[in-house]
Amino acid sequence: MGAGLLMLGSCVQPTVNVEPAPVNKADIVIENIMTRVSVRNFTNEPVSRADLQTLMKVGIQAPSANNRQDWEVRVVDNQQTLNEISDLAKKSEAGAQLAQRMGDKNIFANAPAVFFIAQEVGAPYSGVDTGLLSENILLAAHAMGLGAVYQAGPVRSMTSSPEVMEYLKKLGFSENYELLNIILVGHPAESPAVKDRDASKARFVE
Ligand SMILES: Cc1cc2nc3c(=O)[nH]c(=O)nc-3n(C[C@H](O)[C@H](O)[C@H](O)COP(=O)(O)O)c2cc1C
Repeated sequence: MGAGLLMLGSCVQPTVNVEPAPVNKADIVIENIMTRVSVRNFTNEPVSRADLQTLMKVGIQAPSANNRQDWEVRVVDNQQTLNEISDLAKKSEAGAQLAQRMGDKNIFANAPAVFFIAQEVGAPYSGVDTGLLSENILLAAHAMGLGAVYQAGPVRSMTSSPEVMEYLKKLGFSENYELLNIILVGHPAESPAVKDRDASKARFVE
């Protein structure tokens, strides 16, 4: 009997075998890319370690030049650590503006988890490679119902402060690695609209 056929019998309850609708992988991936937005406001619900582990895994699955994997990733979900980094960064000259903008929040917008991403100094494509790694994390976070944003700004307020740099030794990046960007991750407390892109930037040429 074929799937989806209604089966009737004297002592058998009617059942319907419904096959799942066919899944078009391309549609799902494209929809995920097209609906991703940067999220900068989070609830205070923690992100599970299992989800953070998944984000680390998909991040380092990104392509990299010659498969050098010239990145290092540290994830901090300890609020005390994040607050301590933030308090030091806010005191720095470069952090003053950010401190004003963040108000009561720490420089990480009180995100429950922060990815710190470092690139290998002098590796010619490490900026590209860390960017691809970051995008994997952003897209996966969105697909998982989490909110995330790539940020470079707060890194300036951290790296310009000797006190923060001393504290950040705790992250244990290798000597020839420098912090390039962070990614804030949490459960979204906002749903920003998708921003338009300039379609004229990409076109066919005969
Ligand atoms: C290299 C880079 C640096 C960024 N730095 C910051 C930042 O410091 N703070 C911030 O809130 N967003 C930052 N963003 C996020 C962008 O503002 C955001 O991706 C852009 O406005 C497009 O919006 P969308 O991500 O919602 O599509 C950065 C993004 C990139 C790629």
